[in-house]
Formats: sequence, C-alpha cells, structure tokens
Amino acid sequence: MILTPKPGVLDIAPYVGGRASVAGVADPIKLSSNESALGASPNALKAYEDAVKSVSIYPEGSAQILREAIGETYGLDPSRIVCGNGSNELLTLLANAYLRPGDEVLFSEYAFLVYRLAALSNSGVPVSAPEKNLRVDVDAMLARVSPKTRLVYLANPNNPTGTYLTSDEVRRLHAGLRPDTLLVIDAAYAEYVRMSDYENGMDMAARLPNVVMTRTFSKVYGLAGLRIGWAYCPAPVADVLHRVRDPFNVSIAAQCAAAAALRDKDYVGRCVEHNERWRAWLTDAIRKTGLVVVDSVGNFVLIRFPSASGKTAAEADRFLCERGLILRAVANYGLPDCLRLTVGPESANRKVAAALGEFMARAT
Ligand SMILES: Cc1ncc(COP(=O)(O)O)c(C=O)c1O
Repeated sequence: MILTPKPGVLDIAPYVGGRASVAGVADPIKLSSNESALGASPNALKAYEDAVKSVSIYPEGSAQILREAIGETYGLDPSRIVCGNGSNELLTLLANAYLRPGDEVLFSEYAFLVYRLAALSNSGVPVSAPEKNLRVDVDAMLARVSPKTRLVYLANPNNPTGTYLTSDEVRRLHAGLRPDTLLVIDAAYAEYVRMSDYENGMDMAARLPNVVMTRTFSKVYGLAGLRIGWAYCPAPVADVLHRVRDPFNVSIAAQCAAAAALRDKDYVGRCVEHNERWRAWLTDAIRKTGLVVVDSVGNFVLIRFPSASGKTAAEADRFLCERGLILRAVANYGLPDCLRLTVGPESANRKVAAALGEFMARAT
C-alpha cells in the first residue's frame, strides 16, 4: 500500500504567482500580479510598525478589530464577517466546508484559477461554462447547473478578463440556483469599479441565505504581502467558516494594518482615481499600437496579440522582459494569445506602452 492523497489532489497544477524577476535585469518592473500601483497607505504602514510591540502575543482569533472596522466602513454586521489569510483562504475554506466528494463546482471558462483548485482539493468536480466575448455568460452557466452543483464561484469583475456582470445578470444567475447551492461572489476588484449597474454582492449576501461575498486587501489597499481578505456571509455560513478556519488565521499586524488602510478613505480615493486615469490611458495607447485591449473595470487589462510569427503573446512577453517589464502570461487560463497587464505607476505605464509600440512596429 502506498500513501496517496484524496482523489483530485494530484490533478491540481500548483498555482504559480506572477513572475517577479528576470535573469540579467537588475530592477524589473512587476506588472504581473494586479498589485496596487501606489502601494499601501502610510497610515497602514504605521499601524503595521506599531503592531511590532504585540508580536509575542497570539492575535485575537476572530479578527475583531478588523471586522469592526469593516462593519463601520460598509454598514455591515461584524458578526457576519469572516476574515482570512487572503481571500484565497476563504474561497478554499468554503469548498472545504461544503463540498462532498463528487459535488460539482461551477465557474466560467476564464475564471480565476483558485476555484478549480478548491474543487479538486476536495474531490469535487470542476464544471466550466463557456464565456461569450470574454464575459461570463449567465445562460451558459445556468445550462450547466445540475442536481450535483454545490458551489458556484463568480469573480465580478473577473480576473484575467477584467469584464463584469450587471446586477440584473448576477441576480438572474442566483435565481436559477437551488437553495442548497452556494453562490460565492468574489469581488476582489470591487473598489475599482465605477459602473452604476455593477453588482459587488454585498446586498445579496446581506439578504440571501445562499450568497457569500468575498473581498481582499491585496488590491486597492496595497497589502498583498500581508495576506488579508474577508467574506460577508449569511450567519450560518459565517458560523461554519469560523469552525473550519485556523484559530489565528490573520496576524495582529495584518489586522491593524488593514483596519488603518480601510479608514484612510482619501488615500483609497486617490488610488482609484489613479487607476481610472491610467487604465483608460493604457487602453487607448495600446490600442493605437494595433493590439486588441479588452475593456476592463479592474486594475489591469487583457491584451490580445496576433498569431503572426514575430507578433505573438509569447514573443511580446520575451521582448518586454528583456526591457525589464514583467506582464502575466495567461496561457494557463486558456488564453495563450493574451498577456495581462496591471496598471502601474505613471512611469511604468509609459514604458510599457512605448515598448509595445516598438514591438508592434519592428520588422519581423
Ligand atoms: C478574482 C480574484 N479573487 C481573489 C484573489 C485573491 O486575493 P488574495 O490576495 O486576497 O488571496 C485574486 C488575486 O489575484 C483575484 O484576482
């Protein structure tokens, strides 16, 4: 007898984060992980430093100070908030708690990869629904709902496409699910979205017994390295997550920094403004080079490259890396002809647009 993991585990291709280095390039510009262009609020950094005094003490396990700060910011009931070691932890814990072997986990064709991992690591069956024009197709999702569907993950907006579903569409998706199917609305990029018809899932999670919304401090709040996310849940789901989470899953430094980041509303506002301005600028500048750029509401854009030799996404990736510019290849998402670009600081954005112009103009 040899030791083997649960069925599904060995089907997992381990998640690979965005590259951070290039051989032979001293200080590359990392635009591969949708991190904040402007970094964390100085108030958050100060709170982090102050928390050093408490490092010998276990943190309060339920992240009460952070749950209260989130509750105050959004007018939510802190008892229904669960914090996690990044929102990834919460997305996975939901699968750990609710999936039985053979249960189906539904998501869309180009959905965030973690949903598949969460399904497979619990011997669940990943089911993916085709998208239309790189947008989640609610009808295609509903057509794949079966008596075995237990979890439905929806990234809104989605990574890596940057497209979003409207409130009407998300509500229609929910209306087609049984009460014992959980809809998880992953709103990791919600703070960046300015569209009035956008659905971040907060009201739905507040009202409906089978909807959870997840959020993160890794994007607009600039705290990806500290690993903090949260979920707003129906009370029984919050109860379940508290049972299965690690007893001290959010460090004291992370709790304090995140609470301070949340309260620095001016800083968040400036980060959103920066994103709005430079996402539009990048979209326009890159389209002028002849490339296709998908309209995005997040802090990144998906760029589609031609199939002609000398102009492909893989060749562009190499060309950019040689110039110290790291984007994200998304072949593992089924998009081998695309690269994803995170909106960066002004100088980085200008360099990427110029380099892509050079790439498209060069003789091949
Ligand atoms: C759609 C989506 N959900 C969740 C996450 C995970 O974020 P966290 O850093 O909170 O684990 C990401 C990060 O890239 C994401 O793109």
